[in-house]
Amino acid sequence: MSDQNFLISIALRYNQIRSVHPIPVNSITLQTIDHPLLPKVLELDQICFNGLWTIEGYQREVDSPNSELIALLSGDHLIGYGCFWAIVDEAHITILAIHPDDQHQGFGQLILLALLDRARQRQMKHATLEVRISNEAAISLYEKFQFKVAGQRKNYYTDTGENALILWRGQLQTAEFEDSLKEKWQQIRDQLHQQQWTLSDPEALLNLKKISLTSP
Ligand SMILES: CC(C)(COP(=O)(O)OP(=O)(O)OC[C@H]1O[C@@H](n2cnc3c(N)ncnc32)[C@H](O)[C@@H]1OP(=O)(O)O)[C@@H](O)C(=O)NCCC(=O)NCCS
Repeated sequence: MSDQNFLISIALRYNQIRSVHPIPVNSITLQTIDHPLLPKVLELDQICFNGLWTIEGYQREVDSPNSELIALLSGDHLIGYGCFWAIVDEAHITILAIHPDDQHQGFGQLILLALLDRARQRQMKHATLEVRISNEAAISLYEKFQFKVAGQRKNYYTDTGENALILWRGQLQTAEFEDSLKEKWQQIRDQLHQQQWTLSDPEALLNLKKISLTSP
């Protein structure tokens, strides 16, 4: 068999194998958190924060027009969630959590992207949050979205007396910010695809069509 025929036969064989055993693509979904999802949210809150908010606290958030709560799911499994409060023109990010089994795959970035896109759509001009000074993973994640340190709150965390860093991201209503979200979305989508994850219907929650995040 010539080299060329040999290569063609390998390619045909590869296509046969792929059609019988297609590479699995796992679907993930972003959605607004509603009341039925709260037991799962509470469970993840326990795992990640040892009980930051109570069920009543989450119920108030779901009912509040000033709160945005976003969940990332794979089927019934809650991968992670995030929340911000819209206070005048500031988005105060209060929670961002990814299940320990699902970390380091780009999901934290995806939820942060969703929160910031929602904040932009709600005409917020700035985003801000407090983070433990020792939480290198979270600080590094926020830095990827150009959050800067704006100050510290001394002894902010009652369990350890640890200081909080105040992080700040301005200029949410600029074309540059919109472009940076698009760019981030491309990067995150590529990272997720490499791990056989695909986001189903990204436009449904985020109105992402507006900034064309869904097209290649
Ligand atoms: C912080 C957290 C949300 C990150 O979620 P994640 O899905 O693992 O993050 P991603 O996979 O999207 O990672 C994005 C970036 O975050 C940073 N990061 C994530 N885990 C990290 C770690 N263990 N150490 C250092 N940086 C880390 C990196 O900059 C990473 O980018 P890279 O992959 O190019 O290195 C997650 O660790 C978590 O839920 N922690 C517990 C709850 C918490 O602390 N929330 C933040 C409260 S403000």
